[in-house]
Amino acid sequence: LIRQRRGIAFLFDLSNEVTKMVFEVSKVPTTPFDGQKPGTSGLRKKVKVFVQPHYLHNFVQSTFNALTPEKVRGATLVVSGDGRYFSKDAVQIIIKMSAANGVRRVWVGQNGLLSTPAVSAVIRERGSKATGAFILTASHNPGGPNEDFGIKYNMENGGPAPEAITDKIFENTKTIKEYLIAEGLPNVDISAIGVTNFTGPEGQFDVEVFDSASDFVKLMKSIFDFELIRKLLSSPKFTFCYDALHGVGGAYANRIFVEELGAQKSSLLNCVPKEDFGGGHPDPNLTYAKELVERMGLGKSNSGVEPPEFGAASDGDADRNMILGKRFFVTPSDSVAIIAANAVNAIPYFSSGLKGVARSMPTSAALDVVAKNLGLKFFEVPTGWKFFGNLMDAGMCSICGEESFGTGSDHIREKDGIWAVLAWLSILAYKNKENLSGDKLVSVEDIVRQHWATYGRHYYTRYDYENVDAGGAKDLMANMVKLMPTLNEINTIVKGARPDVSKVVNADEFEYKDPVDGSVSKNQGIRFFFEDGSRLVFRLSGTGSEGATIRLYIEQYEKDPSKIGRESQEALAPLVEVALKLSKMQEFTGRAAPTVIT
Ligand code: G6P
Ligand code: ZN
Repeated sequence: LIRQRRGIAFLFDLSNEVTKMVFEVSKVPTTPFDGQKPGTSGLRKKVKVFVQPHYLHNFVQSTFNALTPEKVRGATLVVSGDGRYFSKDAVQIIIKMSAANGVRRVWVGQNGLLSTPAVSAVIRERGSKATGAFILTASHNPGGPNEDFGIKYNMENGGPAPEAITDKIFENTKTIKEYLIAEGLPNVDISAIGVTNFTGPEGQFDVEVFDSASDFVKLMKSIFDFELIRKLLSSPKFTFCYDALHGVGGAYANRIFVEELGAQKSSLLNCVPKEDFGGGHPDPNLTYAKELVERMGLGKSNSGVEPPEFGAASDGDADRNMILGKRFFVTPSDSVAIIAANAVNAIPYFSSGLKGVARSMPTSAALDVVAKNLGLKFFEVPTGWKFFGNLMDAGMCSICGEESFGTGSDHIREKDGIWAVLAWLSILAYKNKENLSGDKLVSVEDIVRQHWATYGRHYYTRYDYENVDAGGAKDLMANMVKLMPTLNEINTIVKGARPDVSKVVNADEFEYKDPVDGSVSKNQGIRFFFEDGSRLVFRLSGTGSEGATIRLYIEQYEKDPSKIGRESQEALAPLVEVALKLSKMQEFTGRAAPTVIT
């Protein structure tokens, strides 16, 4: 017995119960949209752009076409994200298009929530494993009807699609004529855990909604010594605080920090995921993680309350992290170096040694010094996590990090905010193992200062000029490319700006040849190297959704233990002045000051 209702037929058995739902596939004619080029981390645009009829559909179909129909047919796809505005609609659209394109099953985290690292873990670890994933996020960009949405595709290894695929997707978006969709498929209730079965022209199609945290929690427990961390967290002398900035990290924080590790519930800030991140900018840095920064004693107001020993935050999709101690900021470049230096002792997953370490080019050389001291393989890659993924797939890298608040390891193929917090808690727990009943714990600040004393300190800061005129930004970069070969001219500018700064000995544009697949990435940032080991880097952000963002990275190495205790903005002020003169920042951008300093 078959009854038909709006493109979907319900098969009834004799007791009149629905046994399976049969859907039909429609071919919808469409025309291309401009600018659907996926950036470093997928396609990011304003929600207003994404909600245009056919906009998301075109991109999803272009992705399916790039993957090829043979690979899509029968696939298991993960579809979820950071829960930002428009995610729920997008999940339903992608389910219907997956059904129509012959996908075998779609896995959805409850309420459409999965952090980016959890997606990577689910692809690699869950049950029969998945073929790939659509991750719905614009990472650290704000969310809401007037803000950003984003989508990116991750591959079977759990990492972002390589350029060969994203280029193909972009090509397809320029010529697309139609997409496939099972329009009549009823919306699946993604708030309830369970499996819904459908039948289409190609056979069975299932949607499984599952708990967002359990696969990820299981993985974390296989990496870290939860018992040891639990002891630290239960010590009355240790106080802890975690801010999810209303991103998807909140879906993991309660399970891991409170239920598994025994932290106080009150130590979780902004841990309810919200579609608009509570109106905030879900980027874990000293500017945007205001509440945490205040609580850690690093803000302007002094509440008189003693700050916690340890604080951390993650971004919208919980792949980024910021680590703080009491009244103390750990730069991400130091963070990865310190994790690498301590991993073998403090983290069971690494107890048999590190295969190698890697950082992105603009990240400070703190990791280089650790690698050299410990005799580890070391790689410097362009900005963007996919470059680490290649090294990890080839067994060449265990730990890696970026100045942009990304830290991670080869347990997955994305950076991992919660992993970074657990790594730091592990180091603290290890250093305080014999000390929990003593009168003073080894603090985050102690660990960092000890590290500087051993390896030297890389003073480091980043200036961001957000949403500047794209033309002006291009001209600024072009002007420096022209300046690059003229060391004399460069040094005249340097001397004119600050006679106390050492001279530039080399300037170039970073280019990378991937040692695994041989691919070459050009124009990855302009670098000025100084005689005393200092460095300036300029590059254009690849993740913005409006205008251009110029990033300026400033670094200075200090080996002398008597000089490692300075305030970093003060220590770097001369180099900053030089950088602004060299780039003619104000002239090209009209900006007298950066939008964000980290
Ligand atoms: C994303 C990528 C990171 C990268 C960062 C750089 O977060 O996943 O790997 O470091 O973007 O962003 P930017 O805006 O500097 O290009
Ligand atoms: Zn992110």
